[in-house]
Amino acid sequence: MSEAVSAAWEAIAAVPRRTLGELFHADEGRVARFSDSLALPGDGGGTIRFDWSKTHLDDPLCARFEALAEAAGFAAMREKLFEAEIVNPTEGRAATHAAMRGSGNAAKAEEAEALLRRMAMLVEAVHEGALGEVRHLIHIGIGGSALGPALAVDALTRDGARVDVHVVSNIDGLALESAFAACDPAKTLVAVASKTFTTIETMTNAATALAWLADNGVSDPTGRVVALTASPEKAVEWGVDETRVLPFPETVGGRYSLWSSIGFPVALAIGMDGFRQMLAGAQAVDTHFLKAEGRDNLPLRAAFADLYYTRIRGCQTRAVFAYDERLSLLPDYLQQLEMESNGKRVTAEQEPVSGPTAPITWGGVGTDAQHAVFQLLHQGTHLVPVDFIASIAPGDALDPAHHRILLTNCFAQAAALMAGDKGTDPARHFPGDRPSATILCDDIDPATFGALIAFHEHRTFANAVLMGINPFDQFGVELGKRMAKEIDAGGGEFDPSTQALLDAAGLG
Ligand code: F6P
Repeated sequence: MSEAVSAAWEAIAAVPRRTLGELFHADEGRVARFSDSLALPGDGGGTIRFDWSKTHLDDPLCARFEALAEAAGFAAMREKLFEAEIVNPTEGRAATHAAMRGSGNAAKAEEAEALLRRMAMLVEAVHEGALGEVRHLIHIGIGGSALGPALAVDALTRDGARVDVHVVSNIDGLALESAFAACDPAKTLVAVASKTFTTIETMTNAATALAWLADNGVSDPTGRVVALTASPEKAVEWGVDETRVLPFPETVGGRYSLWSSIGFPVALAIGMDGFRQMLAGAQAVDTHFLKAEGRDNLPLRAAFADLYYTRIRGCQTRAVFAYDERLSLLPDYLQQLEMESNGKRVTAEQEPVSGPTAPITWGGVGTDAQHAVFQLLHQGTHLVPVDFIASIAPGDALDPAHHRILLTNCFAQAAALMAGDKGTDPARHFPGDRPSATILCDDIDPATFGALIAFHEHRTFANAVLMGINPFDQFGVELGKRMAKEIDAGGGEFDPSTQALLDAAGLG
């Protein structure tokens, strides 16, 4: 860590702690100062309001985090990210997910547009019946090749989908069996989504899906397969016709790949226009992230608060509650984005990190979570910063009472966490001063959805830069994979506990 970075952290730690109540009392303009609206393109032309006023950020803290950003070379790293320079040093790669939505480096964005047009042709061909009647898509992928599509399809097709999408990720055959049970094989396409086209779960599930098609009278099963991959040659080798291989660049990371051909099921379900609106929403956030400076930069401001809680207040977790069924898979998606990106123990220079890195991201959906885990948030001994995410427009068409109760509960929880209550006895005492941020959307349309995801991508990147770590590799997932292969191959030597489990399961 450079001396300037270390001095910036010391200065942050030295800022006197004030309660949320004191911060609001001292500053009548606090809500305006720490809330901003981002205008979105697209049919709805909606906005997203980001309210960070119920966090402990204040002017002195923001000024010192801005000094940290400068010392950590944030502006230069952001430039490198958008200009497709190497930001993933351990793998010697750029990270060009923003180019997939037309942002940053012009050559990369042009390349991405050509790939998008190729995907659009296939999507339109399917919609027009060129592959016969297609009612179902079984999308097979795992991690970043599944979580984004699953979330996007779930969020954006509540009022109907052009093709019924089933995302299957788990190697547990029950997952695939459930999809088979819901699909007519004669009217089903299979998308094999894998950046590397080698992941054991995906390739095993894909082979089983082909066998299912064949066993159910489909004469040319591979003719029903679309491959979404950064290794097109492997997909062709596996048997997929080149015309149905939708490639994406190696420089797009798995957990950042929703914007690439990995988004094929989304485009199939909502149509290309909707998919392009999703990209446009994300691009609006890219433009903001690229241009806004210091605390006015919303993902960077969010990272200031994240790091304040993780590194200064010792918070080991951060919770996200979507007060909207359409976003119920968002916490799962963010877990991979944040924990696989920033759960690191060395810096980008491969030195030990000087403090905690990504907290554990967890969460759920409101109001369900209130009746399950909020007890700990209000009265437990852990301090957990919370994000609330809600939409002003309802996703349902029922009595407006449903949505009114949903939103009032969302706002009430944030207010209660902050205010607390002295209570009549210790068991009824709520300490309060518990931080939260609220993201309030006009609606959950494709542009808003794209913007929400891009906001979190850039927030994750900003966190990484301020911690000096590389968010774009994930070597931590390799050891377990390697050991599973060794076990599968047999003859290896394992610890006594593992050996006893293998013996008990008949795998020893
Ligand atoms: O195991 C982790 C991981 O490499 C993720 O980063 C990735 O999203 C996932 O596996 C799937 O990889 P692939 O798309 O290559 O099948």
